[in-house]
Amino acid sequence: MKLDMKQQLIKKCLFPAAGYGTRFLPATKATPKEMLPVLTKPLIQYGVEEALDAGISTMAIVTGRGKRAIEDHFDISYELEHQIKGTSKESLLEEIRSVITKCTFSYTRQTEMKGLGHAILCGETLIGNEPFAVILADDLCKGDGKGVLAQMVALYKEYQCSIVAIEEIHKEETNKYGVIDGELIADGIYRVNNMVEKPDPKDAPTNLAIIGRYILTPDIFDIIRDTKPGKGGEIQITDALLEQAKQGKVLAYKFKGKRFDCGSVDDFVEATNYFYALQNIRNK
Ligand code: UTP
Repeated sequence: MKLDMKQQLIKKCLFPAAGYGTRFLPATKATPKEMLPVLTKPLIQYGVEEALDAGISTMAIVTGRGKRAIEDHFDISYELEHQIKGTSKESLLEEIRSVITKCTFSYTRQTEMKGLGHAILCGETLIGNEPFAVILADDLCKGDGKGVLAQMVALYKEYQCSIVAIEEIHKEETNKYGVIDGELIADGIYRVNNMVEKPDPKDAPTNLAIIGRYILTPDIFDIIRDTKPGKGGEIQITDALLEQAKQGKVLAYKFKGKRFDCGSVDDFVEATNYFYALQNIRNK
């Protein structure tokens, strides 16, 4: 299917945010993982700001039970506004006010947590028949110069196909990630010819791991519909992407910047220290 020029722009960003966040219990018992703050900002706000920086202002969020705080965060709190109006604390709301003004937010629920692929399929109702970005907000990224999603949107303009962001990991950690294999076609860009979800290190084709940034073409929805549950009994986006990859339609992009898996305690602490140091440098 050839897309017309208008459809080729990435206008929407999907945030699958329905997962249980079990690695962060008990904090995530009643609080969405995506609302955990690094310094004073919840993870999902970093993600929304990254999408905005990539020229995307329509945010589509897949939530689940116990995730209502996300909707409240991206809304005006009149009591709070009234309470702090004219005080020195007003500036603390500047960033979130600006995000709310610039973006639209829509929500749908994943009623059963059947995996990331399934969560993305739940988002079809908000995305429709157009290419779109996906951000997993618990993967907190700090791009080198340009934001990571902005780097990927620029690449999409050139190649017009699905793109996954990748990072080199230690081989012994492949069982935590989707891992790709492919042919290097340009600096940091691979044409994917194989991808495996959470392989044992001995079976992993490479140490190139997929992280939580994707650009997907809308044919992915039909492919996910036909995808059987894979690793862990979940419907895996990696398995669906493999179908596109077999047609030569998936690129893997070694992004420029840093990534923190804020769904894990170690990386969450590292991210907090990193952003704290960055803030102190800026304030000097
Ligand atoms: P993770 O596996 O990292 O998230 O899924 P989790 O299941 O919430 O975390 P743990 O492992 O139990 O600690 C990656 C992303 O996919 C979303 C999650 O919200 C997270 O952003 N996800 C995963 C869904 O939205 N639905 C699912 O069924 C599974």
